[in-house]
Amino acid sequence: MSGHIPVMLREVCEILDTIPSIRLVVDATLGSGGYSEAILSKWQKVAVLGIDQDPQAIESARRRLIPFGDRFRAVHGNFKDLSLILDEAGVSAPDAILFDLGISSMQVDTPDRGFSFQGKGPLDMRMNSADDHNLMAADIVNTYSMRDLTRIFRIYGEESFAAQIARGIIRYRENTGPILETDTLVMVIRETLPAPVQRKMGRNPARKIFQALRIAVNDELEVLENALDECDKIAGNRVTVIAVSYHSLEDRIVKRKFREWLLVDRGEMPFRKPLVPGPEEIEENWRSRSAKLRVFHLKGDARGGKNR
Ligand SMILES: C[S@@+](CC[C@H](N)C(=O)[O-])C[C@H]1O[C@@H](n2cnc3c(N)ncnc32)[C@H](O)[C@@H]1O
Repeated sequence: MSGHIPVMLREVCEILDTIPSIRLVVDATLGSGGYSEAILSKWQKVAVLGIDQDPQAIESARRRLIPFGDRFRAVHGNFKDLSLILDEAGVSAPDAILFDLGISSMQVDTPDRGFSFQGKGPLDMRMNSADDHNLMAADIVNTYSMRDLTRIFRIYGEESFAAQIARGIIRYRENTGPILETDTLVMVIRETLPAPVQRKMGRNPARKIFQALRIAVNDELEVLENALDECDKIAGNRVTVIAVSYHSLEDRIVKRKFREWLLVDRGEMPFRKPLVPGPEEIEENWRSRSAKLRVFHLKGDARGGKNR
């Protein structure tokens, strides 16, 4: 299993460097703790509260960050509940909140989690594997109607062949049975699409369908909206929100929210355009190629902030 290489870490640190007397950072997408480790090493007086909804990520980051003692704490939770998590952790007025969205290499490289169209595993895709009540990708693939599958593939996957693929899935369900494994789904997608279409699609034709299912299973777009609203709610002092997104649906949400904040004079946006990784980083870490980093400095909230 390969380790997760933190994306645009230099840029994240440069932005944190502009925050005067920085003391507390919330790493809302802790993952394997790459950002947190870099921050704790660089700033000896900074504490980090890490949040992740994946219990395995929490466990591995906790292990990795033991050397930093009580400067680091990890909480298992969903960043949509940010203000509640901070309340319960007794934390107020963080200087920065980081979102490094999507999944980690650790998740994608574990076939049992079902995120990868390249391995064989159960169609799971829950980031919070401890939540037995949460929908799994297999539930969507095997119970949703043709119309709902098409809608998910079209909206969350921006897949032009959404209807054809949905039809192929329904046909397989009716003729053969439920689709329970990642490689079966990839096979069904491949068999559904004519070879010239697949050639036109370039990369693996299952890529966008896997993205769509993952977004639907984890309700990724809605929780991101909620989390950004939560940042606004908890902003007691000035707080810098840094968001790294990996596809246009996520980036659109961040961009729209930051514009909204600008319009109501909630602070400043140091860059109009998102920062993107340089060619060297993309060469070293292919996963970084689609990253877009946006920053907003929320100013001290006249309402006092929830956590003051
Ligand atoms: C790209 S990885 C973060 C990697 C991390 N920056 C590092 O350097 O190791 C994203 C992490 O965010 C977590 N995550 C995604 N959505 C979340 C949510 N709504 N609440 C909490 N954690 C979430 C995932 O489980 C995953 O571990």
